[in-house]
Amino acid sequence: MKQQLEAIRAAALEAILAADDAEGLDALRVKYLGKKGELTAVLKQMGGLSAEERPVMGQLANSVRADLEKAVEEQSAILAEKALQRRLVEEAVDVTIPGKKAEVGHKHPMYVALDELKEIFIGMGFTILDGPEVELAVNNFDRLNAEEGHPSRDWSDTFYFDTDSRVMLRSQTSPMQVRAMDTMELPIRIVAPGRVYRKDEVDATHSPMFHQVEGMVIDKGVTMADLKGTLNTVVRKLYGENTVTRFRPHHFPFTEPSCEMDVQCHKCGGVGCPTCKGEGWIELLGAGMIHPRVLEMSGIDPTVYTGWAFGMGLERMAMRRFKIADLRLIFENDVRFLSQF
Ligand code: DAH
Repeated sequence: MKQQLEAIRAAALEAILAADDAEGLDALRVKYLGKKGELTAVLKQMGGLSAEERPVMGQLANSVRADLEKAVEEQSAILAEKALQRRLVEEAVDVTIPGKKAEVGHKHPMYVALDELKEIFIGMGFTILDGPEVELAVNNFDRLNAEEGHPSRDWSDTFYFDTDSRVMLRSQTSPMQVRAMDTMELPIRIVAPGRVYRKDEVDATHSPMFHQVEGMVIDKGVTMADLKGTLNTVVRKLYGENTVTRFRPHHFPFTEPSCEMDVQCHKCGGVGCPTCKGEGWIELLGAGMIHPRVLEMSGIDPTVYTGWAFGMGLERMAMRRFKIADLRLIFENDVRFLSQF
């Protein structure tokens, strides 16, 4: 039995020292020290020994077990250290390699212009409204005094969803006037930017989708002088203190009187040049005093309240603000273009 134990010790120690991974080492532990291992098998024969031999063999067996356990523990530590070293090499990070640059985007120039505009109006006490692009023809036309048969309702100009022309992509932001009158308490001071849609072919100045900014004020004693004063203030904040404007008579179904506001051409100072097509002026927006019928249709008494409204093209405003020559550049989102702003 003594030889058996010594043989186990020698073989086991050799195998343990040669183990080169954790699983292999564990298999050896089971093989020699486990419940069904070789050492246990030898100890089971102890019963057949004489009373003198038993303690001697017992002691030897214990010392073999202790040696093997210690060897397993030491080898396990060595393997763990080796594994760590291997990971440190494999997962090493070369901090001298240049980093990957994360490209950060920025606001689209048109939204830069819109945010400037909003800031100015918010500073004047206006509320910014947002509304649906799919709109009822009632709000887009009827309640704005453009009745059945009005040319702007034509199928060749408007995207309708149904054959009886009741639901449409809004052709202007003016229905936001109706929505504001329906939902807000008087007095009302709102600005409503958003997308609008018309059946236009794409060219340097047209797109079937573009943006407008609607504005409206309703209060007691509001006059055309307030309209002119407010719009002049806004335009000078946007384009500079010395900006010259003019108001021309015009016609819109929902305002009376109606006007258009022009700014003097920044390029030629009003003499006439290609930028202003020889006119000296650039059209900026439509505006006017809200038609009494429009107020009445919204349940507002036009003998007590008056109001004014305006609608401007946002692309045109941004093009002027950033001196962009072609409308298509605003929608194409070519990074070479956008990165200039
Ligand atoms: N909605 C008009 C258009 O698309 C612009 C407009 C003109 C809006 C006069 C107004 C206004 O609020 O008072 O051409």
